[in-house]
Amino acid sequence: MRLDQFIASTTPLSRKEAKRVIGQGRVIVDGQPCRQVSTHISTDARVTLDDEFLALPGDRYLMLNKPEGVVSATTDSDHPTVLDLLPANLRQDLHIAGRLDADTTGLLLLTSDGQWSHRVTSPRVKCPKTYRVTLSDPVTETALQQLRGGMELRNDPRPTKPAKVVRVSDYEIKLTIAEGRYHQVKRMLAATGNRVEALHRLSIGAIELDSSLPPGAFRALTEEEINSIP
Ligand code: URA
Repeated sequence: MRLDQFIASTTPLSRKEAKRVIGQGRVIVDGQPCRQVSTHISTDARVTLDDEFLALPGDRYLMLNKPEGVVSATTDSDHPTVLDLLPANLRQDLHIAGRLDADTTGLLLLTSDGQWSHRVTSPRVKCPKTYRVTLSDPVTETALQQLRGGMELRNDPRPTKPAKVVRVSDYEIKLTIAEGRYHQVKRMLAATGNRVEALHRLSIGAIELDSSLPPGAFRALTEEEINSIP
């Protein structure tokens, strides 16, 4: 879609007025002022007019680099939530597709599309989530085998499904699981006799955390990323 058409579709401005505000340098596309009315706007472009973020009507799909200390909830009376990190005009009807603990960082998906988020989180769809796990003690070969083979967790009669594990260093692993039980990664590592010091989600299915997003920043998902969820 052309930039003038995008502005006319996301604000009350007519196409002619849109061209004027673009010409005045009030429109920023991906961090740069853009005065070219015919600029092509991709689905994941960040467009602002007078510092207000603009979004096309319809379902929204966002990735956020969740910082530490922010809760994965839409409301919380005591703590900042991930929605507080988004512009007000984007927040409406958004929910989280796969929560993270307050002290976990990294990839968080938010959407207004309930069917899509159901596919992200449903154990039946088996959408794998990969975490970088920093440990308090060196990871042992026995622990790697336990994680790979499936294991018993405290207060849970069902063993976990086999996980994929890559040893990055003595104190760091990459762990991929397709389930989403309560505090699952921390409980899996606790069951090996270790403790998680830091947990960071790197990817959900084929959607990888964009390395250009600093903690607290977000962007819209591309069509390809949205369609990658089975
Ligand atoms: N597993 C955990 O223990 N915590 C998270 O935030 C995500 C997965």
